[in-house]
Amino acid sequence: MATTPQTVPAAPKAEGDLQDLAKRHLWMHFTRMGAYKDADVPVITRGEGCYVWDDQGNRYLDGLSALFCVNSGHGRTEIGEAMSAQAAELGFFTNWSYAHPRAIELAARIASYAPGDLNRVFFTSGGSEAVESAMKLCRNWHRMRGDGQRHKVIAREIAYHGTTLGALSATGITALRSVFEPLAPGGCHVPNTNEYHWPEGRDALWAADAIEERIVFEGPETVSAVILEPVQNAGGCFTPQDGYFQRVREICDRYGVLLISDEVICSWGRLGYWFGCERYGYQPDLITTAKGLTSAYAPMGAVIASDRIAEPFLEGTASFAHGFTFGGHPVSAAAAMANLDILEREGINGHVRTKEGEFRSMLEGLRELDIVGDVRGAGFFQAIELVKDKETRESFDDEESERLLRGFLSGELYRSGLICRADDRGDPVIQLSPPLVADTEQFEEIDGILRSVLTEAWKRL
Ligand SMILES: Cc1ncc(COP(=O)(O)O)c(C=O)c1O
Repeated sequence: MATTPQTVPAAPKAEGDLQDLAKRHLWMHFTRMGAYKDADVPVITRGEGCYVWDDQGNRYLDGLSALFCVNSGHGRTEIGEAMSAQAAELGFFTNWSYAHPRAIELAARIASYAPGDLNRVFFTSGGSEAVESAMKLCRNWHRMRGDGQRHKVIAREIAYHGTTLGALSATGITALRSVFEPLAPGGCHVPNTNEYHWPEGRDALWAADAIEERIVFEGPETVSAVILEPVQNAGGCFTPQDGYFQRVREICDRYGVLLISDEVICSWGRLGYWFGCERYGYQPDLITTAKGLTSAYAPMGAVIASDRIAEPFLEGTASFAHGFTFGGHPVSAAAAMANLDILEREGINGHVRTKEGEFRSMLEGLRELDIVGDVRGAGFFQAIELVKDKETRESFDDEESERLLRGFLSGELYRSGLICRADDRGDPVIQLSPPLVADTEQFEEIDGILRSVLTEAWKRL
C-alpha cells in the first residue's frame, strides 16, 4: 500500500542537485520510492491560491489542497507574518503545566465555534496524535468512572484514522495494518456507508445498526468509543445516510459508549461548516481535528472534548497523564488564529455551501464517461468511483487497478496539470478536495483535465 507516485520522466542531473539529494536522503511517506529510480521526484517549490509550481516552472491546479489541508489556499502571507511575529515574541513554550496567550485564545475560539458543550481543547501536533489522544482520553474517562473494562473502539472498514499504533488499531485498511501487527488491542470494525455496492433493498440505516450489533457482540461493558468521520475519506467520500448519525448517537447513549467525530479532514469549512457534525446535525462527545485548522501552514491538531468528558479531570489531584512537547505550539497557534481570521473574513463556509452544487454538477457530468460509476461527497470533498462495468458496477481487479491508477492515471493527471488523488484503498477512486477558495474557473479546469484523461484511460483499458 503506497500512494500512487506522481512520476515525471527523469531529466539529466548533477550530483548534489535537489533530485539527487531527494533520491539519496529523503524518505517520503507512504511512497514506493523505487518508482523514482528512473523518474524524477516531483519537487513543489511555491504556491498561490489554488495553484502550485514545481522546480521546472510547471503550474498545477492543487485539486487536493496538498493533502486535504490547505483550506484557505496557498501563498497567504498574512499567516506567515503572524507566525513570524509570534516567533519574535515567544518562539516556544509548552502546554505542560503552563499556558501562553495564543494557545488560550485559540482554545477559546475553537470552543466558540464547536457545537453544544464541546468546550475544552487539548492540542496535538497533528491528526494521528489527536486520534490517539481521544482514544486514550475515552479509556481514561471510563476508568475514572469505575468502568475500567471499557477499552475497545469501533470504527469502520476502510476508514483511515492515522498511523500511530493506537490510531492504527482504529484504521480499517488491512494493508496498512497487517505489516505492523500486533497493534494496540481493541480495534473493531463495522461496515461503512458506501451504498454504491450494497445489495438493493437494504435498509438505509443498516450500517448504523451494525454498530449496535457489534457493541452487543463485544459486550457493551468492554466498549469505550465509536470513531467515525462525518464523510469517510478512504474508499472515496462515503457520505452518511439520512438519520445515520442520529441512530449512532442513540446507540452510543444506550450502551454508554462515547462518540468521537474524526474531523481531521471534515472541519474548517471542508464541508461548508466549521465542523462536519454540524452539517449532519449530531452532537459528538469528542471531535478530533488537524489539517485545515492552520490550513497546514504549521503542524497542529486538537481534541475538542465536551464538558461531560472534561469534568472528572478538573477536580482534586486528577489529570490526563498524556501530552506532546509541541501540543499547542505558539507559532502553530498563531498560524491557526490568522487562518481562522481569513476563513471568517472571506466567508469561506458560505462560499463552499454556495458553490458546492456547481462543483458537484460538473463532476456529475462525468458520469457520461464509461469508466465513471459513481460520484459522491459533500462540500469541497468529492470522489469519483471508477468501474469496469457501469451496469453491474463491477470494479477493477488488483492487477487492472494497478495498471489503471499507477500505470496511467496518476502520472497522466499530474502531467496534465492536476494534483488529485487516484486511490485504491477501497475500490478505485479519484478524489478531489480543492482549496476552499476554488471557484468556477478551477471547477472547469478540473472538469476539462479529468474528462480527457479518463477518456484516454478507458481507451487504453
Ligand atoms: C480522518 C483522519 N484521521 C486521522 C488522520 C491522521 O492525521 P495525520 O496525518 O495528521 O497524522 C487523517 C489523515 O489524513 C485523517 O484523514
